[in-house]
Amino acid sequence: MSLINTRVDPFKATAFRRGTLPAIFFVLVSLLTGSARAVGDPARGGDLFRQNCAACHSQERGQNLVGPSLFSVVGRAAASTADFSYSAAMKRSEIVWTVDQLMAYLKAPRKYVPGVKMMFPGLPDEKDRENVVAFLATLNGAASASPRAVDSKVPPTSH
Ligand code: HEC
Repeated sequence: MSLINTRVDPFKATAFRRGTLPAIFFVLVSLLTGSARAVGDPARGGDLFRQNCAACHSQERGQNLVGPSLFSVVGRAAASTADFSYSAAMKRSEIVWTVDQLMAYLKAPRKYVPGVKMMFPGLPDEKDRENVVAFLATLNGAASASPRAVDSKVPPTSH
């Protein structure tokens, strides 16, 4: 009988062998960074942005058009761009623009945040939204010429 006590716990051994623990860890990290669904193609997203968003949104820091600048939008709080006059609805939404929040908002903006003044019906196609959000995630200044552009609020992408 004492033999059994000296053996390796079969549950733990199986868990390690099958990579269960690393898998759980990966899911937790994905949830924390909001990157679980960030599988879009930023190049396609850039095209979609120019077609659907650029009429109202600039990707340059501090440049507000009809809509607020979307520079470094991923990770920032809703209605937090200086010098833009947001609707009351957006101000009290208390949203933080994670990947998941952007996916939900861009599907049907005025349904997700009733009263918001973004006159855009939304992108019904999930793949389109993933691509646009992947593009938005690149707007952190890292690849642009603007000085002091790196913004620590943008979570690292997992590749
Ligand atoms: C017709 C103009 C228009 C179009 C087109 C448009 N938006 Fe907007 N957007 C706005 C306005 C105006 C607001 C501010 C909403 C408010 O304050 O209620 C806004 C707000 C936002 C916000 C919240 C920003 C913040 O600082 O909280 C995001 C994110 C956003 N838009 C993304 C997009 C994306 C991505 C697209 C294209 C798929 C898009 N918008 C298309 C006008 C537009």
